[in-house]
Amino acid sequence: MSLTINRDRLLSEIDALASYSDAEAPAVTRIVFTPTDLKARAWMKARCEEAGLTVRQDAVGNTFARWNGSDPAAPVVGTGSHIDAIPNAGKYDGVVGVLGGLEAIRALRQSGFHPKHSIELTIFTSEEPTRFGIGCLGSRLLSGTVSADAARKLTDSEGTALDEVRRNAGFRGELEEVKLPVGYYAAFVELHIEQGPLLERQQIPLGIVTKIAAPASLRVLIEGTGGHAGGVLMPDRHDALCAAAELILAIENAARTSGAVDTVATVGICEVFPGAVNSIPSRVRLGVDIRDTDLQRRGVVMHALEAACHAISEKRRVSIRSELVNADAPAECAPAIIEALSQSCRKHELNFLSMVSRAYHDSLFIARIAPVAMLFIPCRNGYSHRPDEYAAPEDIVRGALVLAETLAALSK
Ligand code: GLV
Ligand code: MN
Ligand code: MN
Repeated sequence: MSLTINRDRLLSEIDALASYSDAEAPAVTRIVFTPTDLKARAWMKARCEEAGLTVRQDAVGNTFARWNGSDPAAPVVGTGSHIDAIPNAGKYDGVVGVLGGLEAIRALRQSGFHPKHSIELTIFTSEEPTRFGIGCLGSRLLSGTVSADAARKLTDSEGTALDEVRRNAGFRGELEEVKLPVGYYAAFVELHIEQGPLLERQQIPLGIVTKIAAPASLRVLIEGTGGHAGGVLMPDRHDALCAAAELILAIENAARTSGAVDTVATVGICEVFPGAVNSIPSRVRLGVDIRDTDLQRRGVVMHALEAACHAISEKRRVSIRSELVNADAPAECAPAIIEALSQSCRKHELNFLSMVSRAYHDSLFIARIAPVAMLFIPCRNGYSHRPDEYAAPEDIVRGALVLAETLAALSK
């Protein structure tokens, strides 16, 4: 089987998708169910139909583009990723797995290959937590990791419920129907940029993921006492932002001293109320993200956070409440898919690195119901979630080629 990845088409589609953005180029902002996201979805659907695939969308907007195999009863071989993008992101995160996956399928179709298992491209809804506070919403529902009831209760920052937002976006049906039946997938493989520097530093063109780290996130609400920035004397203050500052540093310290590079913690949201330069902050809301490949080590950091909340609250006489948003387990990748990926690399004499994914991905949740693996390509300086995210054309093409061969091997 000789496969040709159409480099120009793939690159121009990555650029075209990046034009659906609420930020000025090169930044990409595409938040789930905004008019921009809906336009991008329509564009994606047209590309999949143009490729001869049958497209279906579920009640939360997960999109499946299927190439029917010769055995309709055989479980599906899946690939895909997400097209939503956090504020001020780049154009490759998720997109390389979606458009690279589509190109892999087109290359296989063109080669005359006939799969036994259907091959399906999935575009997962809201991999990013931007709008509803929780990442991988679509794949959590598909895998039953979050219940329809719990999902219905999610609201965006305007207080609008997910159920209303997705219906207004045109996605009907019940959220209960999103969960996939047991045995739906024979295998699932996701192509993604590494979002870290290891492949580039070691000059290795591909990474095969063996394990996906366990993410947790929390919201912390700190309530102190507001007042006049001139009038209230320093000893009388209960400044919520000063308490937040101490807490943020305590979280950083707990992650830095865990003894492992795999422990990471980030406070990426800090909302200050009332947010006036001459007013003492009375309320602060933090968004905290903690990850590790080892659950026990992650637990130590989470415990340190709780202890710091308690100590800072006592010391500064402010109220601090933390709420767990999610604490997920890590996922192991499937040896058979790792082997199929490795075989394709060996065939092309491509060196690869076996590695851990520190970022989370929809594959983390699909792993609850199917064998999964991931293929990483390098990204410049390891940059991701920023406008200067960049993956080189030859790396994208290589990734799509190895993905295509792997899908072929798994779907025979
Ligand atoms: C996914 O975008 C992540 O934050 O790992
Ligand atoms: Mn991302
Ligand atoms: Mn991603």
